[in-house]
Amino acid sequence: MYEMPREMIRLAKPDISENLEIKIAALIRSGNLVQGKTVKALEGALADFLNAKNAIVVSSGTAALHLSLMALDIGPGDEVIVPAFTFPSTANVVEIVGAESVLVDITLDDFCIDSSKIESVITNKTRAILPVHEFGQTADLNAILDISLKYGLHVIEDAACAFGVAYQDRKLGSFGPLGCFSFHPRKSMTTAEGGLIITEEDALAEELRSLRNNGLFPKKEGGFDVHHVGLNYRMTEIQALLGLSQLESFDPYFKVREEMASLYEEKLKEISQVRSPKRIEGRETSFQTYHILLDDAVNRDALILALKEDGIETNIGAYALNELSYYKTRSDCVEGDFPNATKAYRQGLALPMGGHLNREAISYIAEKISERLTLKGGNGESKSI
Ligand SMILES: Cc1ncc(COP(=O)(O)O)c(C=O)c1O
Repeated sequence: MYEMPREMIRLAKPDISENLEIKIAALIRSGNLVQGKTVKALEGALADFLNAKNAIVVSSGTAALHLSLMALDIGPGDEVIVPAFTFPSTANVVEIVGAESVLVDITLDDFCIDSSKIESVITNKTRAILPVHEFGQTADLNAILDISLKYGLHVIEDAACAFGVAYQDRKLGSFGPLGCFSFHPRKSMTTAEGGLIITEEDALAEELRSLRNNGLFPKKEGGFDVHHVGLNYRMTEIQALLGLSQLESFDPYFKVREEMASLYEEKLKEISQVRSPKRIEGRETSFQTYHILLDDAVNRDALILALKEDGIETNIGAYALNELSYYKTRSDCVEGDFPNATKAYRQGLALPMGGHLNREAISYIAEKISERLTLKGGNGESKSI
């Protein structure tokens, strides 16, 4: 029996170095606040860390995805394949550039796009596949890359949740022409808001650098020109300083999460209504989010509220796009076509995860889930929440 904690157990909490305030104060006093040498230093450090030729930081993960589509000249008349279960921005950006997002169901083993369903939606308008490494779990990349080669499609990895995860000795984000990351506080490393695109192609990197800065392009003779219109998606120096400090202390990230995931697995395995994330051989996961799946009989939203009373913050993991009004009303979004996305959206639950937890907290969370799912009714029989 574990005691209720005095403070709410947060779903996630970034680990921010204590001596950062002094550096931030000095930076603010310097007056150089936007996209200067700290941003450049962060880009260098990120390129080293991910073993990428070019790293371009931007103002958010959404901005990274948006600029990636723009740099590949994807727009009206084009189609981009996306998983039906993700954070909406994965598909929203496709719509924003005037292309059409084509939804494909996920598998409940990895919560990533079901690669066996991709080929059936490819048309002569398809330009790219945008797989998401959901919750830090590597998507079925081998199959996705094979399909992309067969049909001549770009692969743009949405690695927002999978910073630093490796697949066959290469870091995620490096398998297609462009890989995108988010540095939101819920992600593996944070710059408050922020994002990153990596690419091996210098011409794409140059284009992205221009697009994030309103399309301004340095001229040989000095000054700037605009060839393609862009946006202001620059990162501030303060954010970059935070990013550098996060990267310096990133080392234990995987080890800590692996230990916590193992403990969750051990504690949750006795609860019949709960399915822990599956481990898939050869496909690494960072457990950026620890996402369990509850039996259909469990009222997930009632469980979220009950756990809150116990001092535990939990939440839905991601969205089934086919359940959101904008996507739902489209003619190609046929009800019943995305059963796994719908199930993950309705019965999935993200549990607290990260360095702010200890073994006691995880044991307490598992104990409370078990209690809440088997509350004794008046007749002594257990009943689901
Ligand atoms: C899979 C995925 N893609 C994209 C994003 C967008 O990132 P940001 O919030 O930094 O814009 C998120 C953020 O939650 C995400 O989870």
